[in-house]
Amino acid sequence: MLSQNMSDTLEDFRTFFNPNKSKKEFSLKEVIQKSIELSKYQLEREEITLNFFLKEDLRVFGFKNELIHVLLNLIGNSKDVLASKTELPQRIIHIIAKENEQAIYINVIDNGGGIKSDIIPKVFDPYFTTKHKSVGTGIGLFMSKQMVEKHMDGKITCKKYSP
Ligand SMILES: Nc1ncnc2c1ncn2[C@@H]1O[C@H](COP(=O)(O)OP(=O)(O)OP(=O)(O)O)[C@@H](O)[C@H]1O
Ligand SMILES: [Mg+2]
Repeated sequence: MLSQNMSDTLEDFRTFFNPNKSKKEFSLKEVIQKSIELSKYQLEREEITLNFFLKEDLRVFGFKNELIHVLLNLIGNSKDVLASKTELPQRIIHIIAKENEQAIYINVIDNGGGIKSDIIPKVFDPYFTTKHKSVGTGIGLFMSKQMVEKHMDGKITCKKYSP
């Protein structure tokens, strides 16, 4: 069972790193579900509940694998912060996708307490990390920003979430 899961995951990563890339139309729902699937093992291990909200599926034109990569970075960051908070009664990640006239929005929210305001201006810098160097290199958000802004004509920001 476990090894089947792992070989599925390896297969996913093989396709994921396939360099022959071209912009294509894809389903946002499928891409987000795929990212959740690829994160499943680490989420289960840390007993994190991930909820995904999307009213109606949306068609997106772009690099599907890059969006998966960005989502894996964001989910991974949430997992890291949640795993470090041993006192939390529940560890939760919400992914909320929606659309208005201007854009499609994908919010990744966790209850790990947020990013401290003094480091918010630095989190997208290359090699900025608050983690031990065996855990983080600090390139996750830098790479994500490059992909979103250079390839998806998008924006990536972070803030303390107030419902
Ligand atoms: N969900 C989050 N909650 C709290 N802090 C966060 C969150 N996401 C990012 N951060 C902060 O931003 C920093 C930079 O994140 P980034 O993903 O670029 O690097 P990293 O996670 O430290 O290392 P890497 O992604 O290379 O493994 C993190 O070290 C952490 O301090
Ligand atoms: Mg990271």
